[in-house]
Amino acid sequence: MKRKKKRLRVDRIIYCLLVLLFIIFLIKLGSYSLSNLKIYNTVKEKNIIIVHKRKVRLWKKTIKYIKDNKNETVIKYKKNYLYLYSSELDNKFIINLDIKKKKINKPLFNNVKSLYIKDTDTLEKINKLEIKLPMFLYKKKYVDVYGITDNDIELVQKRIKVNNKYVKFTLNNKYKDYFITYIDLKDYNVKENINLKKDELYDLSIIQNPSNATDNKVYYSNYDKDIISINDDKIKALKKGDTVIKVKINDIIKEVKVNVVEEEKKVIKEEKKEKFDITVKDGITYVDGIMIVNKTYSLPKDYNPGLQKVYKDAFTQMQSAAKLDNINLFIASGFRSYDDQVKLYNAYVKEDGKEKADTYSARPGYSEHQSGLAADINTAASWFDDTQEAKWLKQNCYKYGFIIRYPKGEEKYTGYKYESWHLRYVGKELAKKIHDNNDISLEHYFNITSVYKD
Ligand code: DAL
Ligand code: ZN
Repeated sequence: MKRKKKRLRVDRIIYCLLVLLFIIFLIKLGSYSLSNLKIYNTVKEKNIIIVHKRKVRLWKKTIKYIKDNKNETVIKYKKNYLYLYSSELDNKFIINLDIKKKKINKPLFNNVKSLYIKDTDTLEKINKLEIKLPMFLYKKKYVDVYGITDNDIELVQKRIKVNNKYVKFTLNNKYKDYFITYIDLKDYNVKENINLKKDELYDLSIIQNPSNATDNKVYYSNYDKDIISINDDKIKALKKGDTVIKVKINDIIKEVKVNVVEEEKKVIKEEKKEKFDITVKDGITYVDGIMIVNKTYSLPKDYNPGLQKVYKDAFTQMQSAAKLDNINLFIASGFRSYDDQVKLYNAYVKEDGKEKADTYSARPGYSEHQSGLAADINTAASWFDDTQEAKWLKQNCYKYGFIIRYPKGEEKYTGYKYESWHLRYVGKELAKKIHDNNDISLEHYFNITSVYKD
């Protein structure tokens, strides 16, 4: 008798649980149907889907309606006010979103706050996304969107205007996750005084810190438009005179004084020396103690010092300083022996012919790379000219004893085309003098030639 009672009680509990589960199921089904009914009605009325939950599975008839009408239906996600533009929905489309605030701690992103959008199936099926930003972002004028691939972070869209707290951007299936952020500009470097001769073109080479600031647009104002014109960060000297450019990036304003002279710029040469001592030792030429290797002055075939210690040490110092400005420097091609240069030069001649090759590659025995005092930094290609790295080198390399060996506008002295990446070590003293002389070439400075005999 006693035992029967007990079993009865267990049966009852199971029964009650089943009823409870059934009620929960009914409630869920009810709310699913109700929310989908709401969604269906708003789609028909306004072409907008409004969802309140993080994850919603749409009714087939809603999906069919969107597909039949073929327009870009807007999906509005209540919590984050997100708009999704989609034209490729499949029959089982589930809106599944994972968006949260997150700090990004990666190189170039020092714990910066972001709105992080995690990969979900939803992102794969839509092509555009509009999202309401949290306060720390919607107060800004612009934001950047970055995409995360398996092993990298890439900029998706820079400086997107915030439109009444919203931003809209296009998605790309190559990215797993996205984040939206704003990176503050701390400061920037620009030369304070520039001396130009008429018709000269001068690259202002502004280095921004950090190099990936969001609002990085440079504005130039106040300058005399008769004296200079400015285009793409380049100043063109139009006529003789003085003027001051007001440079503005974000809220940081700086002034650049420009002096345009009529005739070709005179080399100042601190020491006012017109003649320098030329000595030859072991078949190597030195001018005022500085080793010279160019089309006139060659090196012995067996001169094989490797990349010299003074170069390596100075480079390491410069590399560390550059890192603080978020500039990444490395040696792409350092020492090259006579035989290395034979192979390289011959390959260029085969490709471009001797005359053209001579404008950018040295003949064996005539390359500064054989001196162990020169190296190509990062990339030996003309697209490097416009990078933040090249600009940084142009402004700062002299502080570590380097010069840009083949400067722009000095081709008639060096005999070579402009190479923004080829850095020669000459020591801090001479590098500074050359920098103060408008970064002229070694040949121009020492008044020596660079021409092959034949
Ligand atoms: N590109 C420089 C001129 C060299 O070949 O040494
Ligand atoms: Zn080089």
